[in-house]
Amino acid sequence: MRILCICLGNICRSPMAEGALRRMAEQTGLAIEVDSAGTGAYHIGNPPDPRGLEVAAARGYDNTTQRARQVETADFQTFDLLLAMDASNLATLRRLCPQNAEAELRLFHPDGLDIPDPYYGDIPDYEHALDMVEESARALIATLSR
Ligand code: 4NP
Repeated sequence: MRILCICLGNICRSPMAEGALRRMAEQTGLAIEVDSAGTGAYHIGNPPDPRGLEVAAARGYDNTTQRARQVETADFQTFDLLLAMDASNLATLRRLCPQNAEAELRLFHPDGLDIPDPYYGDIPDYEHALDMVEESARALIATLSR
């Protein structure tokens, strides 16, 4: 199972999602591959936002080696599941998805909620985003472990 987590910039929410899914999968003994990407090109090659790194580090994650990249056509073949952080990201993915691709595209949050973009906010917004990311990751890992 290969999973790609997607947001807009690939520097705030999807790096957190990648880190949380990877750690929870390891803890559960679930063999999945996880990566993340952004629909936008603004931050290609950049590490995660320092506020996101700080909030994640406080919960024991080390996302410092991640670098932002943009979603590419091959991702729709390489990955089985593309998880969008919000409805806008999902709409972009649906537009980009080649007709013959078999990847499943859906929202990350199990109740179909948007994980709000914290980029123009501050630390509490990153904490809230990580809360929702961890909630979503737990739900997904539980489903995949069944
Ligand atoms: P992300 O947050 O999609 O969670 O990585 C954003 C980061 C950067 C921008 C927007 C959202 N930006 O417009 O540069």
